[in-house]
Amino acid sequence: MKQQLDTIQADALAAIAASADQKALDDTRVAFLGKKGTLTAAAAAMKDLPNEEKPAYGQALNVARKAVTEAIDAKLVELQEVEDKKSVDGIDLTLPPRELLEGGLHPLTLIKDRAVQILRRMGFALADGPEIETEYHCFDALNTPDDHPARNEKDTFYFDSGKLLRTHTSSVQIRTMEKATPPVRIIAPGSAYRRDEIDATHLSVFNQLEGLFVAEDVKLGDLKGTLEYFFRALFGTETEIRFRPHFFPFTEPSFEIDIKLHAKGQEPKWIEVAGCGMVDPAVFSSLAESRGDEVFDPEKVTGFAFGMGLDRLAMIQWGIKDIRLLIDNDTRFLKQFA
Ligand code: PHE
Repeated sequence: MKQQLDTIQADALAAIAASADQKALDDTRVAFLGKKGTLTAAAAAMKDLPNEEKPAYGQALNVARKAVTEAIDAKLVELQEVEDKKSVDGIDLTLPPRELLEGGLHPLTLIKDRAVQILRRMGFALADGPEIETEYHCFDALNTPDDHPARNEKDTFYFDSGKLLRTHTSSVQIRTMEKATPPVRIIAPGSAYRRDEIDATHLSVFNQLEGLFVAEDVKLGDLKGTLEYFFRALFGTETEIRFRPHFFPFTEPSFEIDIKLHAKGQEPKWIEVAGCGMVDPAVFSSLAESRGDEVFDPEKVTGFAFGMGLDRLAMIQWGIKDIRLLIDNDTRFLKQFA
C-alpha cells in the first residue's frame, strides 16, 4: 500500500512538472486531489486496512498530499512569472513616463467662486435664469421701453422666434420676483451677450453677476455699504472704488462703479466694473400686474440691484490688461492660475 502511494506521488510530481500552463496545472490538481482524484481514492481505501496498519498509512498519505500540494503551489508561482514576463514583452520599462499635465481652474471660474463665496456669506442665495430670454424678461419688465437703444438689432442678438440672447443678467431679477415673496436676497452669475465691438475691455459674450435685495426699508446706504464691503473683501482694503451717477431704466437713482486697475506695464486707470441702483418702483408695479398680487407693493418694499462684469473683475484681480486673454485659451497664460 505504501508503495502504491509512492507511485501516485511520483506520478503527480511528474504531471505537475509537465503542466505547461495554469489550465493544465489545474487539470493535474483535479486528477490527483479532486473528488475523484487518485490520492483522494487512496485515502478512501484506508477504511479497508487492518486497524494496526492505519496510522502508518495515514501518515504516509499526509506526507504525499503535502508534497503534491506544495509542488502545485510552487509551479503556479513559476507559471505566473512566465505570464507576467510575456505581458511586458517588447515594452521598454526604462523609458521615462509621459509628462503628467495637472489641470487648474480658469481665472473666470476662480473669480466667480470667490465673489459668490463672499456674497453668500453676506446672506445672498444663488438664483438662475435662461440665457435665451424673452424680450419681456430682458426689457419690458425692467421698465425698458421699445425705443431704448439696447433693444436695437444692432446691439442685441435676436432669434427669429423673437427671443434673444440676454443682454444682461438683470432678467434673473424678474424671473426671481415672479415667484418669490420678499425679503428677496439673491445673486445670479452667468453669461450675457451683446453685439459689442471686441477690444481690450469688451467681448460679445461676457460674464456678469447680478444681485438683488428687496425688503422693507432697504436704503441707498445699504447698497453702497454692501458693494464697498464686497469689493474690499475681494480685492483688499486698499481698493480704490468710485460711484458715478448713471442711468438705468430699472433703477433710480443709478450708479456705475469704477475700480482702479493696476495692470502690468500700464498707468493705473479707472475701469467700469458694475452698474447698480435702487429698484425703480415701476419694476414693482409691473410685477404686481404679472403676478396679480401686491406682495411687491412699491409702497411697502424697496430694494437695490447690481450687475457686475466678472471678466473685468478678473482683470483687476490679476492686473490683466486685455480681456481677450480670458478667451484665447493660451496655456502659457492659463498656467499662471493653476
Ligand atoms: N444690467 C446692467 C448692465 O448690464 C447693470 C445693472 C444691474 C444696473 C442691476 C443696475 C442694476 O449694464
